[in-house]
Amino acid sequence: MTAQFTVLGIETSCDETAASVVRGYPPGPGTLLSNIVATQMEAHRPFGGVVPEIAARAHIEVMDSVIAEALATAKISLNDIDAVAATSGPGLIGGVMVGLLSGKALALAAGKPLIAVNHLEAHALTARLSGGVAFPYLLLLVSGGHCQLVAVEGVGLYRVLGSTIDDAIGEAFDKTAKLLGLPYPGGPEIEAAAAKGDPKRFPLPRPMVGREGADFSFSGLKTAVRQSAITAGELDTQARYDLAAAFQLAVLDIVEDRVTAAMQQFRTKFGRPNEKGRIVAAGGVAANGPLRRLLERMAERENFGLVLPPGPLCTDNAAMVAWAGLERLALGLTDPLNAAPKARWPLESLRENLDSYPNNGNRPVAGGTAS
Ligand code: KG4
Ligand code: ZN
Repeated sequence: MTAQFTVLGIETSCDETAASVVRGYPPGPGTLLSNIVATQMEAHRPFGGVVPEIAARAHIEVMDSVIAEALATAKISLNDIDAVAATSGPGLIGGVMVGLLSGKALALAAGKPLIAVNHLEAHALTARLSGGVAFPYLLLLVSGGHCQLVAVEGVGLYRVLGSTIDDAIGEAFDKTAKLLGLPYPGGPEIEAAAAKGDPKRFPLPRPMVGREGADFSFSGLKTAVRQSAITAGELDTQARYDLAAAFQLAVLDIVEDRVTAAMQQFRTKFGRPNEKGRIVAAGGVAANGPLRRLLERMAERENFGLVLPPGPLCTDNAAMVAWAGLERLALGLTDPLNAAPKARWPLESLRENLDSYPNNGNRPVAGGTAS
């Protein structure tokens, strides 16, 4: 059996302070020895969204105890891990600095390698942690800050097939929830309200549906929800449920159309005779029940194998960071202790960076297989 790696992961890029110890070997699945998430949701709720200064301070307050709890739960000491992986972007820079500095301090103190993890890559590789899915696969990344369809060819090898031209999908859920007087974070609130509503009462547009390519747009939908609410006047409880249901159904219709387009692109580039395509979902919105059921139906219809990580691995967590670190460690892709925190860090830029690592000789699909 191949030797396994054990990696400590740290995540602080938004409003969760998280640490986790994961063991395994690519392509996975891996074992979660611990997965601690301290959420700051309550601190941000009065403001209807994440306040960066509050987030950074809250990360500092609980970071040490969250890491200690992750090691204690895993019954492991720093000496027994193989590397420390910390999110170093993209995200709210104050929070990213807290987690990355903690990771650097631990790596230095324990004499272990550091892996500066891209948060989006962590989401992108989660389906390997949970389901051991092989490359290449199509990724639907749907979170509070991102909405992308990506061909994942290997670690560091991402090709964006479509992305949002305005709001991220989670942002659309959160803003619609706020408009309907529902608390932050809006995604789960909309999902619960929609379950009690009639999606046909309010007609809403489906921006981008039928367009060439696989890009998304949600700002027009958000505006239409606002307009419907204004036209309806005072919204009673049932009207809120109905509007939530109409919004969620419109989102699902958009996702269905865009994912179908991306599946076609993916098949053209990577399709092999007699082999199913593979699709995975990641990011907080991938915890949405109706979206998960839609993807199941679509995968069946389009002859794609589907891997949906469990909900708690879709929303922000450190197990996915530990796993992304583990995948990089297995390829010799470790980082210097002066790795910089980044507010912006697009997935596709990781491809260019691969060549800057000194010992990346065993990279499986270098250069990619796409035309
Ligand atoms: O991946 P994530 O935890 O953080 C980011 O990296 O952004 O995603 C958070 C987003 C929020 O916008 C939240 O409202 C949304 O995911 N979300 C959901 C659900 N659970 C979380 N959206 C729809 N349905 C859900 N059940
Ligand atoms: Zn995220």
